[in-house]
Amino acid sequence: MIKIVNLSKTYKHGNQNFEALKNINLTIDDGDIFGIMGLSGAGKSSLLRCINLLEIPTSGEVLIDDTDITKLNGKQLRNFRKNIGMIFQQFNLLMNQTVFENVAFPLKISNIHKSDIEKKVNHLLQIVELEDKKNSYPSQLSGGQKQRVAIARALATNPKIILCDEATSALDPQTTQSILNLLKSINDELKITIIVVTHEMSVIKNLCKNVAVIEDGQIAEIGSVVEVFSNPTSKTSKKFSEDIFLSSSTKIVSYGKLLKITFIGDDAQKPIISNMVKNFNVDANIISGNIDIVQNTQLGSLIINLSGDEKEIKKAENYLKEHKLTVEVIENGIC
Ligand SMILES: Nc1ncnc2c1ncn2[C@@H]1O[C@H](COP(=O)(O)OP(=O)(O)OP(=O)(O)O)[C@@H](O)[C@H]1O
Ligand SMILES: [Mg+2]
Repeated sequence: MIKIVNLSKTYKHGNQNFEALKNINLTIDDGDIFGIMGLSGAGKSSLLRCINLLEIPTSGEVLIDDTDITKLNGKQLRNFRKNIGMIFQQFNLLMNQTVFENVAFPLKISNIHKSDIEKKVNHLLQIVELEDKKNSYPSQLSGGQKQRVAIARALATNPKIILCDEATSALDPQTTQSILNLLKSINDELKITIIVVTHEMSVIKNLCKNVAVIEDGQIAEIGSVVEVFSNPTSKTSKKFSEDIFLSSSTKIVSYGKLLKITFIGDDAQKPIISNMVKNFNVDANIISGNIDIVQNTQLGSLIINLSGDEKEIKKAENYLKEHKLTVEVIENGIC
């Protein structure tokens, strides 16, 4: 388990201080795929880099299986880091070394016997499906293949945790999906905890089980991906979930009351809207609707225009809430 306690990070430039992370508290369970989401400059990479002490926190603790790694000395930390692999947006491969040599690198510096290295690297290249490229150089590979090499290299020391900083941001959507599938199978089969920093909603939606939203160096929201996107409370997640359902700032002309209804799971199957119209003296016009699958759960959003007597509209609105739908009134027709 990873536990971050009261962590803060202040960068110093000469006389100036910049507080990039402010009192972060976070627990990530073993086997999770945990997303850290936020806009550019929010502090995502700083937080991720504090987890393996590439960045030293100004204060606070980073507990990994109850060991506070901020208290380790140099040698202990070097040993401990073997438990944590990392992959980056720009792959960070050694350009003058072959695919085989890149993956072998962390094993060579751990003084592992040559024949064991060969066995291990061949096995890792099989996992990332690059056996046929083992003698190629990074410049001869596509972006997706380079990231597969980086993943194999990250796996070389049998880590318990893999940190990914915008690992798919340089890749096209199809290649992104294949890398996300690879990370998912690594999590599933090798039981490795994966922490993913991203500003891409699709990565959170397709890969992560839980997510923390960072705004201005603080945790603005935390929960399961389905929870956060079915009932977003932070500015960032509201913006991101609008991107799933609607283009933002859509102006809707209406003559009644505009409601945005969000439903999850089985609720999507129930005829709640038609029952509402039958039970109350209101008309419901569907303005827009969308349904998506997030972590194998249906997540839908519907914008309806309710017209009729004000009291009946209120009753209809309460009826929706009684059926545990999230109902939001859209003021001035702007959503
Ligand atoms: N080494 C550094 N020295 C000074 N300031 C830094 C340093 N690294 C990051 N910062 C500042 O800390 C803030 C958070 O940066 P960070 O890289 O963690 O953001 P991020 O959420 O990863 O952004 P992006 O999505 O653009 O990668 C930014 O304002 C950045 O300018
Ligand atoms: Mg970053």
